[in-house]
Amino acid sequence: MKVLTSVLLLGALIQASLAETASSKRVVCYQGTWSVYRPANGTYGVADIDPSLCTHLIYSFIGLYANGSIRLLDPFLDIDRKNFEQFVALSEENPNLKVMVAIGGWNEGSTNIQSW
Ligand SMILES: *[C@@H]1O[C@H](CO)[C@@H](O)[C@H](O)[C@H]1NC(C)=O
Ligand SMILES: *[C@@H]1O[C@H](CO)[C@@H](O)[C@H](O)[C@H]1NC(C)=O
Repeated sequence: MKVLTSVLLLGALIQASLAETASSKRVVCYQGTWSVYRPANGTYGVADIDPSLCTHLIYSFIGLYANGSIRLLDPFLDIDRKNFEQFVALSEENPNLKVMVAIGGWNEGSTNIQSW
């Protein structure tokens, strides 16, 4: 009886630690927003993202001016086509989702750092 209780307790502990691991797991998703410009079936936009699959979601990319202010690299997509707005709205579908932006990328280049 004592052994059975111990085994059950051990099982419960393992299950609890597995549950904790699963809930603390990070799934960081990243979208290169230019993927929406791919032709035909290759296109992939914000509407194609399943926010339930991710704990973190990164919008790529934005840039910086030499003075450190945010610089939009594709204002047509980011603002005019409401891409930022729709990306952030994905957190309404998954309240645990953390939405972030990445600074950098090819269009940003690597020269701004020299003027800081
Ligand atoms: C796009 O995908 C659909 C469904 O798989 C397919 O029927 C169609 O031929 C594809 N179009 C192109 C241009 O590849
Ligand atoms: C930073 O630089 C940009 C581009 O020259 C300019 O539009 C913006 O007003 C500047 N921001 C500040 C806080 O000086």
